Amino acid sequence: MTGLSSTLPIARCPPARETHRSTVPTSNHNALVVDRQFSEPQLAALYDAFCPWEERDDLDFYLPLVMSADTVLDVGCGTGALLHRARESGHAGRLVGLDPAVGMLEQARQRTDIEWVLGDLSAVDWDEFDLIVMTGHAFQVLLDDEELRPALAAIRRALTPNGRFIFETRNPLVREWERWIPENAVEETDSAGAVLKMSHEVNTPVDGERVSFTSTYTHPDWEQPEVSHSTLRFLDAESLSTFLADAGLTIEEQFGDWDRQPLTVTSPEIITIAARS
Ligand SMILES: C[S@@+](CC[C@H](N)C(=O)[O-])C[C@H]1O[C@@H](n2cnc3c(N)ncnc32)[C@H](O)[C@@H]1O
Repeated sequence: MTGLSSTLPIARCPPARETHRSTVPTSNHNALVVDRQFSEPQLAALYDAFCPWEERDDLDFYLPLVMSADTVLDVGCGTGALLHRARESGHAGRLVGLDPAVGMLEQARQRTDIEWVLGDLSAVDWDEFDLIVMTGHAFQVLLDDEELRPALAAIRRALTPNGRFIFETRNPLVREWERWIPENAVEETDSAGAVLKMSHEVNTPVDGERVSFTSTYTHPDWEQPEVSHSTLRFLDAESLSTFLADAGLTIEEQFGDWDRQPLTVTSPEIITIAARS
């Protein structure tokens, strides 16, 4: 499906995904099972239509940071939009995109002058990145302490001594998930004039840091809706700071939005620039 154009002003990225380790062992290690809206090629192909660069303030924040780093690892790179844009803008260094979702990487691989790695942080054993980013709230996919701690440790190991880890997570205090309701569904019109719809519904009541919800995609040509189940973790700033410190990472700067305003209780984002302690 190509040539989609937004018909509603509130087009939003799919807010999340879920991952868990498959209990079925593969040859080397347990396979990582990701949210089907990212693993299924048909759904992953819609991601950039629902999340176009022009409607995202985060990528304009990240692009200059990528451009000024020689070696960059994008963890949870998705369709690779950020690294694609960096190369198009003349980045001449090493760009690596890492993602466990086959569908998303299939989109990313449309550019062959970037290294694409299928997997999660356990697949990375390099120590040469000036910059590691997690964009599009990919950080929130790290649901459990047992997943988060090794991921942060791997990031620290993969950073050069002066490297930076830059990422964002949604501020739990503003409870953005309360807007992930069917009434806020988003529509896109494809080149044939057919209307594709994406809606979300949160499992209630929300209890604690994890928010689980369903994303439903419909298209008049499909026999049935495509449904994807997801969970995201909403860490508060204090817990985040503790996890980073425990992993040997120090917060250098923190912002509450993409205009680099200070983090407050009403800030939509917790945007963090961290360095090796
Ligand atoms: C909301 S998308 C964000 C994609 C991209 N970073 C962006 O800004 O558009 C979240 C991405 O995280 C990936 N992901 C899921 N589990 C992951 C894991 N354990 N480690 C790294 N990435 C993961 C998904 O496959 C998906 O592509």
